[in-house]
Amino acid sequence: MDEIVKPRALITGGSAGIGFEIAKLLAEDGHDLIITGSSARVQDAAETLRTHEVDVIAVQSDLSTEEGVRDVVDTVRKAGRVDVVVLNAGIAIGGAFLDIALERHLQLLELNITSTVRLCHALLSKLIETRGKLLLVSSLSATTPTPFESVYGPSKAFMTSFGHGLREELKDTGITVTILHPGATATNFHGRAGMGSTRFGDYSWKNDPALVARQGVEALRAGVTSVIGGDAATQEAGAEHKILSEEEKARRHAVLARPDQKGTDNA
Ligand SMILES: NC(=O)c1ccc[n+]([C@@H]2O[C@H](COP(=O)([O-])OP(=O)(O)OC[C@H]3O[C@@H](n4cnc5c(N)ncnc54)[C@H](OP(=O)(O)O)[C@@H]3O)[C@@H](O)[C@H]2O)c1
Repeated sequence: MDEIVKPRALITGGSAGIGFEIAKLLAEDGHDLIITGSSARVQDAAETLRTHEVDVIAVQSDLSTEEGVRDVVDTVRKAGRVDVVVLNAGIAIGGAFLDIALERHLQLLELNITSTVRLCHALLSKLIETRGKLLLVSSLSATTPTPFESVYGPSKAFMTSFGHGLREELKDTGITVTILHPGATATNFHGRAGMGSTRFGDYSWKNDPALVARQGVEALRAGVTSVIGGDAATQEAGAEHKILSEEEKARRHAVLARPDQKGTDNA
């Protein structure tokens, strides 16, 4: 009997947060998975995802390095095919621009921007072979200046613009490009960014990662270009970003992201 070949999805940062929720949904859709994360917990996440009776390969690698990206690309090539690529791994760094060591800003750019370009360059031709789907997890922060996480928003603006350009360029290849713009979401993201003392440190008003992931995966399935991830207030904020001045958006973001008198743990 012929072996049934399942579609395979790569999810970077699939070990936690929004990426893990996306991985769950794609497993429920019957995709075998390759998930990545920078820490050993990617193995635990893979174990959990295997309960969906799909094959799951876990890759522990630092995507802010060329070697880390190569490990992921090699794994995809060995797996043979890829039908869905979700580029989701990303970080922010909270605090005043000048208080943060330059190396940390550059590491953010390596992860959020350079790894996106490297992975797309290496994997898009494989995705074209399967007429597959690409999901870029950007941010609502792509549409506003982001004072006190000053490099993060611009890195996501790159991702959004890059995705729109690729979509147009690749429209006759049979693949789709979808860009997810989550609003503030209740994962470990802001804790990792050292933003516990800001309004983003309060989890009570942030979006459920399962909701954001579902909106992203539904858009991916439908081949929609761009979607905002989050509740009604988040959708409203996305609409407002189209009409407010850059100065006003910067002022509003500073209220949310400014560390309190205790400062941050980013120095
Ligand atoms: N949460 C929000 O409020 C929010 C809002 C808008 C957009 N987003 C975007 O959504 C995406 C996912 O964020 P999240 O909230 O799910 O964050 P999260 O819970 O912190 O998860 C981040 C994921 O990325 C991985 N990762 C972090 N640094 C990495 C590195 N150097 N190399 C490889 N993998 C790395 C993590 O693996 P380890 O844990 O093993 O390091 C984890 O799997 C990000 O691109 C973020 O910019 C988040």
